[in-house]
Amino acid sequence: KPQAVIFDLDGVITDTAHLHFVAWRNVAAEVGIMIDEKFNAELKGISRMASLERILRHGGKDAAFDLSAREALAGRKNALYVDSLSQLTPQSVLPGMTSLLHTLKAQGIKTGLASVSLNAPAILTALGLQSHFDFCADASRLKRSKPDPEIFLAACEGLKVDPARCIGIEDAQAGIEAINASGMLSVGIGVGLKHADLLLDSTEELTWPRLEAFWNQQQR
Ligand code: BG6
Ligand code: MG
Repeated sequence: KPQAVIFDLDGVITDTAHLHFVAWRNVAAEVGIMIDEKFNAELKGISRMASLERILRHGGKDAAFDLSAREALAGRKNALYVDSLSQLTPQSVLPGMTSLLHTLKAQGIKTGLASVSLNAPAILTALGLQSHFDFCADASRLKRSKPDPEIFLAACEGLKVDPARCIGIEDAQAGIEAINASGMLSVGIGVGLKHADLLLDSTEELTWPRLEAFWNQQQR
């Protein structure tokens, strides 16, 4: 059995990836930049300021905004995003995830959270999942964003587990790269992800029997 399963939050536990997109689309439109869902995929797993930098570059406007103007834009995006979080309830947990967390606990497997979102604690509370994770890595203490493995390694350290004995779960390409670089096995959720050790279409397929079969097959 693995020692721990470490989860990304946005797009894995709940569908906040779409809420991030809607908030960024509004702020980008204010400064005359159009973004679509396809471009948004590149923002998944990327920190707030790094996302803004990618958007400004995408619109060819990275020279037009100094640090204080960027901070103002990022602050407006976050205000819109935090507003939209009031929609979240325990019903917003993606299919199968609450039951997977319970099953892992029953199996004696630790659970960790590795989200770069500064809003992660508020989201877990809104979903009623605060007590479901043995350790949540603190995004405010990170020096490097995904695809750097720092956050997954911090989660392993907090859980006192060996990365080589753990599984990481992600919906973002940057997140898959971070898991792979940490030495954990990677599970990707969603189409089009590259380099995942196991790729599933949706969280409905993410069950303990599926993870156990994958783990056993990788140990041979
Ligand atoms: C990640 C999301 O989980 O958190 C990114 O995938 C987001 O889209 C990042 O930019 C930072 O989130 P926040 O809530 O701190 O702005
Ligand atoms: Mg994600």
